[in-house]
Amino acid sequence: MAKKVILSGMQPTGRLHLGNFEGALANWVALQNDYDMYCCIVDWHSLTERYKDLASLDDDIVQMAIDYLAAGLDPHKVAIFIQSQVKEHAELHLLLSMITPTPWLERVPSYKEKSEKLGLDSYGFLGYGLLQAADILIYRADFVPVGKDQLPHIELSREIARRFNGLYGEVFPEPQAKLTKVPEVPGIDGNKMSKSYSNEIAIADTPEVTADKLKKMFTDPEKLRKGDPGRPEICPVFTLHKIYTPHEQLAEIDRDCRSGELGCVADKKHLAESINKALDPIRQKRRELEANLGYVNDVLAEGAKRARARAQETMAMVREKMHLR
Ligand code: TRP
Repeated sequence: MAKKVILSGMQPTGRLHLGNFEGALANWVALQNDYDMYCCIVDWHSLTERYKDLASLDDDIVQMAIDYLAAGLDPHKVAIFIQSQVKEHAELHLLLSMITPTPWLERVPSYKEKSEKLGLDSYGFLGYGLLQAADILIYRADFVPVGKDQLPHIELSREIARRFNGLYGEVFPEPQAKLTKVPEVPGIDGNKMSKSYSNEIAIADTPEVTADKLKKMFTDPEKLRKGDPGRPEICPVFTLHKIYTPHEQLAEIDRDCRSGELGCVADKKHLAESINKALDPIRQKRRELEANLGYVNDVLAEGAKRARARAQETMAMVREKMHLR
């Protein structure tokens, strides 16, 4: 039986951090054997916000592709490609724009929030959700692995698929979100790890930088020095231990933190060792890829070729149904 199709996408934010890795990338790697998978670096989407800041866009794309490969996405199994290299996304976006009522786009929560907060008012930004629908539908994807925040976008994609199929005939399956269990990954300041908070540990950071960042990490504010009892349940350092430190060591850390015997300085050193050990093979691979950008660019070109083949198949069906040549 043919494998089901997965489309996933990420904006090119450059070097990925632990939150991106645990939240998305690790899931993609786990799915790649069982699905026909397309992983898209959505550079056009990023233009909605960074249209004045494009000098580093290409480098951000390449650094992200390096992280994908270093984390274990296998380019023989997954088409890894740049959205703007597959122009069919734009054609489908245009055709779908003719059948999409503007209120559907105006009520997308991310549109409402960001247009107010960031003052974004472009036509392209209003179409953000529609462009995402085109990304998904052009591969006739069955599943889209996303976090909860993206559910309204997937719902919009389904509504648009239904409307197209109803007007012109069946082309698109209705894509389902594949909700992934995302561990909470706190950043250095205790808030959710995010590039926009500048609180991240990057996959690309060296072991030394990682340890230095952890030294500054927020802990239980009532544990000021070794000897004070701490509360692991509210400590972001402990949350990271739960992800990166071997589980059989957690009970001891928990106990010694609570008793005061374990101080934060030593505890953070331990965490740095755990994280650095977990990331070591990925960082090693990353360095090899950075020294071999020709290969990374070949992977992106090959991925675009495979994506294009599937996208062109879909567009042939779409044009036929719409009586377009
Ligand atoms: N909106 C997604 C995000 O902010 C990015 C994205 C664009 C996407 N197109 C996609 C995600 C298609 C999944 C599928 O993360």
